[in-house]
Amino acid sequence: MQFEPSVPSSLYHKMLAAEDPYPILHRLRAEHPVYFVSPEQFWLVTRYQDIERLLHYPGYVSLDGRNWEKYRPALKGSLLRWNEDNGLFCCSDEHHSRLRRLLRNIFSPISIVKMGDRIRNTVHETYMELVSERLSPVDLIAEFTSRVPYRIICQLVGLKADDDEAEYRKTIHKFICVLQPNPSIEDQQFAESALHKLLTWINRTMEERMAFPKADVVSYLLQIAHSKQTLTENDIRFLLLNIVGAGVETTAFVAQDILLLLYQDIELLEQLKADRSLANKGLLEIIRYAVGGPAGLMRFALCDFELGGQRIRQGQMLMLSRGGANRDPAVFENPDQIDLKRPIVKLPVFGRGTHRCLGEHLAMAQLQMMVEVFLDYPEEVASRPSEKWDG
Ligand code: HEM
Repeated sequence: MQFEPSVPSSLYHKMLAAEDPYPILHRLRAEHPVYFVSPEQFWLVTRYQDIERLLHYPGYVSLDGRNWEKYRPALKGSLLRWNEDNGLFCCSDEHHSRLRRLLRNIFSPISIVKMGDRIRNTVHETYMELVSERLSPVDLIAEFTSRVPYRIICQLVGLKADDDEAEYRKTIHKFICVLQPNPSIEDQQFAESALHKLLTWINRTMEERMAFPKADVVSYLLQIAHSKQTLTENDIRFLLLNIVGAGVETTAFVAQDILLLLYQDIELLEQLKADRSLANKGLLEIIRYAVGGPAGLMRFALCDFELGGQRIRQGQMLMLSRGGANRDPAVFENPDQIDLKRPIVKLPVFGRGTHRCLGEHLAMAQLQMMVEVFLDYPEEVASRPSEKWDG
């Protein structure tokens, strides 16, 4: 039985180093759609249909990194180990569905529409604050896109956002860095202290809400924990960690990719300014084009199986390439062009199935409003560069 492929994996590294990864990504998809990358040792999957199949048949692969043949558990007794063994990706299906059911209404499309004014105000206030701080355009985009999701999540969940905001954003970053496979000892140490800080923040908020409940997610979950007893306080800690960990940087990165694209592509910017409804209708197409690259969702094989002519072995890692799927010509005609009127096709960007992104509608609302603000003030942004460099 053939387990290891015969194709050299240098193409993957060339692609990582290339300014534009798509020519190589297209070549890989056409010639080696399931491609073994060494020395990292994972399968890069680049065809849309293969990625869809894997996302729809959870029996073949899992998100739980403990199924990886090279998995090295974090130190026994550490907070990281506690998180590894209890997070949303590793709990039982039954427990996972119960937790998701509890949060379904909070993150439903209707609830997010109701939150529209709050989100819009936060987006506008953040933008104005940054403009008055007189940052350069790139800093402005980076700061804008990372402050907004942090503030929105904090408001919704009930965590206090104004306690040293920049420090907490850095802490969240340190915590999620460790979610990459086999983090270095140094990253683990950073993440352990980050997790400690985030849990202290969460515990403090839980204590405050026990005494004085408010209209936020923490108070809602505490009320369930204390009345129906179907939820423990530890469950609440995990949920909050997952929401903060999964909702802040993802939204920031996607928003940053989108706004940088608008900043560079004047034609696209003009098109959106001329027809504002396209910022909503065409948002998925903008995401398809702007968000991609070689990397994507990680999965771990639960059994041996065949994919794209390759034999995947139980315990191996697969990377479902976002850019591979988003630019697959079998699904998107002229995939390297933006076509805002393109019929909508589901993208794997928010995942699928049981672990599908909980915050998809919240993220889309934020992205749309950040784009709207950008369309309102592009000149303001464009006039910034010299100001910072002049001192
Ligand atoms: C543009 C922004 C976002 C993107 C691209 C994104 C993407 C994803 C993806 C792909 C998954 C599934 C992971 C996988 O299949 O490997 C996921 C899960 C998740 N996302 Fe998001 N996400 C975004 C924003 C948010 C926000 C704002 C929240 C806040 C609530 C959030 C909360 C979660 C949670 C809690 C999970 C785990 C779900 C589970 O295991 O049941 N995400 N996200």
